Amino acid sequence: MTPAHADRLGLLADAAVRSAISRELGRRIEHHARVGSTQERARSLADAGEGEVIVVAEEQSAGHGRQGRAWVAPGGTSLLASWVFRPLPSDPALFALLAGVAVARALAELGVADARLKWPNDVQLSGKKVAGALADAVTSGSAGALVLGIGVNVLQTPGELGDLAALATSCAIEGHPVDRLALLARLTRQLDRIATSPAERASALQEWRARASMLGREVEVRSATGTALRGLARELADDGSLVLETSGGPQRILAGEVSLIG
Ligand code: BTN
Repeated sequence: MTPAHADRLGLLADAAVRSAISRELGRRIEHHARVGSTQERARSLADAGEGEVIVVAEEQSAGHGRQGRAWVAPGGTSLLASWVFRPLPSDPALFALLAGVAVARALAELGVADARLKWPNDVQLSGKKVAGALADAVTSGSAGALVLGIGVNVLQTPGELGDLAALATSCAIEGHPVDRLALLARLTRQLDRIATSPAERASALQEWRARASMLGREVEVRSATGTALRGLARELADDGSLVLETSGGPQRILAGEVSLIG
C-alpha cells in the first residue's frame, strides 16, 4: 500500500542508525526482525535491571494484548514496541490509558488528525481500533519499572486485517501511510512528556476526556468474567476508572470491555 522507501523503521537494523536514533531519544533501542513479544523481552530486560530501553520488532510470534488476547500483525506492517520507564510511577494503570493520548498526539504531528480514545486503552480512527496499549509493573530492583507496550496498525491493507477489518483499521487504510520510524520517535517524546511531569499527566487526562469516543453515551461494560453492566458512560475519574450511571446508581468500573448500545 505504501512505497517501501517511505517507511524507515527497518533502518534500525543498522547499528549506526540505531545508535544515532538512540542518542536522539535518550535510551538504548533493541530492534528485532522477529521476537516472541516485545513486551516479554522488555520485561525480562527490566527484571535484569536494565535502564530505560525501547524494544521494537517488525514481527511478533506471540504478541499479546490486554486480558490475555493475542495481538496479531503481519511482519513490517505495524509499530510494535515496548518502553521501559524508570522509576515505576505510582499509577501504572493510568499510564496505560494516557499512552492513548501520546499515540493520538504523535499521529496528529504526522498529519493523522482526529484520533479518538475508547476506554480503557484503545485508539480509534473512523470508529475502528488503530492502536492499543498495555502496561506492566516490574517491581524487582530498587525503584521498579513500568513496561509499556504499544501496537499501532500502520501499513496494513484491508486484506491483511482479514476478519478484524470490521472492528480495526490502519493508518494506511485511513489514507495516512506514515513512516513507522517517525512515529516511534514522536511517540517516545510524547510518552516522556507524560512520564516525567504530574502536570503533564493532568493535562493528558483532560485531553483523554476531550478525545473520548464514548463519554455521554449508553454503553455495556463486560468484565473479564463475562458479567455485563449497562448504563451511561458519565465520566473518566482522575484515577482512570470509568463512572457508569446505571439504573442502580453510579458505578465505578476499573476494568472491562466497553461497547455502544442502541
Ligand atoms: C490491547 O489493545 O489489547 C493492547 C495491545 C498491545 C499490543 C502491543 S504490540 C507491542 C507489545 N508487545 C506485545 O506483546 N503487546 C504489546
